[in-house]
Amino acid sequence: MKLITATNYSDMSRIATEIILKRIKSSDKLTLGLATGSTPIETYQYMIEDYQQNKTDYHHVTTFNLDEYVGVGPTDRTSYYYFMKSKLFDHIHIPREQTHIPNGLANNLEDECSYYENKIKNQGGIDLQLLGLGSNGHIGFNEPGTNFDIKTHVEQLTEATRSANARFFDSLEEVPTHAITMGISTILQSNEILLLVSGEKKSSALTKLLKDTKLDPSFPASSLHNHPNVTIVADQEALQYANLT
Ligand code: GLP
Repeated sequence: MKLITATNYSDMSRIATEIILKRIKSSDKLTLGLATGSTPIETYQYMIEDYQQNKTDYHHVTTFNLDEYVGVGPTDRTSYYYFMKSKLFDHIHIPREQTHIPNGLANNLEDECSYYENKIKNQGGIDLQLLGLGSNGHIGFNEPGTNFDIKTHVEQLTEATRSANARFFDSLEEVPTHAITMGISTILQSNEILLLVSGEKKSSALTKLLKDTKLDPSFPASSLHNHPNVTIVADQEALQYANLT
């Protein structure tokens, strides 16, 4: 794992944007795995600023988002579909049919998971996967205890995750109990992983990830130790207890 230390959230976002834009500008065909949550918001803002200034071409870029809540639809403001549209896709010129997010309203969720997994496979896999880190060590929505071999599936969200994400909803009761998520094995099949970590509330999870290389299903992010090309961009608040000397 390569660690890049950022001074703060904005610096982390700027560094992440540089890495992503470099891959976009240097390839003829690129498949990006994208994340939601608070962590990547400013990265997407910088990508939009870059688009406005440089008209960066996205016609050769295909995207797959990590996850989506079960039971929320594209027009629902709490859906990850809505998040991606409002925070990125509406502001850059990327063909909409090249952007993919699991359908949380699918009648048959199991079929939707296989369909999504196959779409990634048929696309040739993910070149660069952007990840955030849950305070409990989750990646995507792969919660503690998830098998590392698992592909795209429906995950029951822990109460810790529902509480952490309640800020995006009117109340805790409204936070869905389940989500479709790329599995850990789906994530690990990406060629390159870019993990962004910011803020004190991620510091204990980040310290565990950096200090303990043991593969531990109760800490899903530890699966990243199995991947040959992971870059972590973390800010000083997130790194404050890591004592990296
Ligand atoms: C959420 C998402 C993840 C995200 C993580 C961290 O629940 N499903 O994809 O990376 O948890 O979220 P945040 O960036 O808001 O702290």
